[in-house]
Amino acid sequence: MNIFYMPLADLAAILLLLCIIYHLLRLLKTIGFHAFYTKIKLGDKAKRLPPGTMGMPYIGETLQLYSAKNPNIFFSSKEKRYGPIFKTHILGYPCIMMSSPEAAKFILVTRADLFKPTYPASKERMLGRQAIFFQRAGDYHAQLRRLVLRAVMPDAIRSRVAEIDAVALSTLQSLEGRTVNTFQEMKTYAFNVALRSIFGKQEMSCMEELKQCYYTLEKGYNSLPINLPGTLFHKAMKARKRLGQIVANIISSKRNQQQSEVDKGLLASLIDPKEALTDDQIADNIIGLIFAARDTTASVLTWIIKYLAENPEVLQAVKEEQEEIIRTKEDRKEEKWLTWADTKSMDVTTRVIHETMRIASVISFTFREAVEDVEYEGYIIPKGWKVMPLFRNIHHSSDFFSDPEKFDPSRFKATPKPNTFLPFGNGSHSCPGNELAKLEIRVLLHHLTTKYSWTMAGGKAESGMEFGPFALPLNGLPMTFSPVHA
Ligand code: HEM
Repeated sequence: MNIFYMPLADLAAILLLLCIIYHLLRLLKTIGFHAFYTKIKLGDKAKRLPPGTMGMPYIGETLQLYSAKNPNIFFSSKEKRYGPIFKTHILGYPCIMMSSPEAAKFILVTRADLFKPTYPASKERMLGRQAIFFQRAGDYHAQLRRLVLRAVMPDAIRSRVAEIDAVALSTLQSLEGRTVNTFQEMKTYAFNVALRSIFGKQEMSCMEELKQCYYTLEKGYNSLPINLPGTLFHKAMKARKRLGQIVANIISSKRNQQQSEVDKGLLASLIDPKEALTDDQIADNIIGLIFAARDTTASVLTWIIKYLAENPEVLQAVKEEQEEIIRTKEDRKEEKWLTWADTKSMDVTTRVIHETMRIASVISFTFREAVEDVEYEGYIIPKGWKVMPLFRNIHHSSDFFSDPEKFDPSRFKATPKPNTFLPFGNGSHSCPGNELAKLEIRVLLHHLTTKYSWTMAGGKAESGMEFGPFALPLNGLPMTFSPVHA
């Protein structure tokens, strides 16, 4: 029988039947799809997966993760229910989440060879596929790490303290008397420090255009990856192309300069002729480094400003330490600019930075992907599954930090147990910029605590946090900063 000649009633019956079958299939999938699919695909290995649930077909538990507003609620409720190793399915991928220091060490350090860094393809395209954080362990990754470290390790940045000091002072002056979004202002500060660390202090006419392109790139970073005219993603990709051209022009002008005239920033390290990196490789890493350096440092600074405002006795201790540095410099008739040695003498301030990084855990977790089937503690991590060490859960565990929800910098008078404090990650992909980040935070806090007072807009900070994608206080922490006159 030809369907086109079927009586209308029959056609309606068939359509109704198809509709019922379709909905039945969807129901079956909803109640058992993942378990069934996983069993078929993994065979016996499925029995050795860690405990946990995989949620709905395709979307897994992504909605539960994001509807919680705070993903940490999702992680800690899972941990409470299933223990420190559990499976789930988010953003289209099966994942195993791990919240013990031993597991973090296994993934990031001891058996890092079994896991590779993994990011959505759209993010790789946007930042540049040849950037350091997308690389698997190997010669190219090791070369990039060496070149980045050469530019940001203590020996390289100790001569930059005066420059960073000047940037901190002008940032704070620009805030005077205004109610500002603290996070946005700290981003400007971290951006300017990053640009100096990359390109050196030489003023370049293209810096304003570079900044504007970067802002457009940033706006599209978390957008849907739809590359059609008018979308944020499309605009971001256009800005990324222009950024590549701007960096290429800077590279060619620096290559024409005498090596001795080139400031010893990251760019100088990357264009070293002996290293033979292409312009694209250099551009991807410069843009990637700005990305890695800016929002992370700015969110930590924003949290510190909040915690200091909420804990007057801690603020007083930081103030006293910083004022003592000023007095000592005056007594010794030293220049008023901070030196590397001054920044290294800030023990109380450093404990505040550490405690903030623990409690705020701005990078709550990281992603890796198993490159083969991996056995861990009797469980199997199947090849291709994502693995997430949950830094925040470790930082908030009462097994390692007593009264973990309390802001108490004095706990850092004792060194935390190995792999329990991982604000900069661990192993071959750990943060090479950690010394630079701590330096710029210390310098800003020196001037902030000795020259300014600050109050939360509306008298009290809203509690709660948002993710952009790093954890930060709600609405970027609106604050008013006023100079204090000695
Ligand atoms: C307080 C501020 C910062 C925090 C909390 C932070 C945190 C981290 C973490 C947790 C990782 C490891 C990610 C992983 O294992 O997947 C990382 C990697 C990285 N960070 Fe930072 N970071 C900060 C500042 C900076 C700065 C200032 C720079 C610039 C020099 C920087 C450059 C990088 C780079 C290039 C990587 C990738 C390293 C690799 O893949 O080998 N970070 N950061």
